[in-house]
Amino acid sequence: MNLCRVVAVLAVFALTQQAWGEGASVAQKKQMCEGCHGIPDYRTAYPEVYTVPKLGGQGAAYLAKALHDYKSGARKHPTMIGIAASLSDQDIEALAGYYAGSEAKK
Ligand code: HEC
Repeated sequence: MNLCRVVAVLAVFALTQQAWGEGASVAQKKQMCEGCHGIPDYRTAYPEVYTVPKLGGQGAAYLAKALHDYKSGARKHPTMIGIAASLSDQDIEALAGYYAGSEAKK
């Protein structure tokens, strides 16, 4: 992991801590996800251009498992581990349900 990556992950983590806060609603958390997952072509350009998987239309069980795996460390991706760590089991269920039920465009 290079330094840029570490800095980016810390920045995202700090952001999530702030945005999540106590009692942040699932609707608020979703906005955070869409900063990466809801953009055209599913690309993000910082710190380097990389693609982000599409969430909308995937199975709720698959999405929930992916989030639990990031949270436990079974699945490794620095950005998503930082994000999943801040989600409760309830958040994961709610977000997985939301994305499974939403149009494939998100
Ligand atoms: C900073 C950008 C960023 C944010 C914010 C973000 N993600 Fe991700 N997400 C990614 C990237 C990059 C991947 C691909 C990781 C990999 O290759 O394992 C990913 C992967 C995933 C996956 C696995 C999808 C698959 O098909 O394997 C799920 C589920 C997911 N994110 C859900 C979320 C949810 C829910 C949120 C909001 C709580 C969120 N993400 C916020 C960048 C982000």
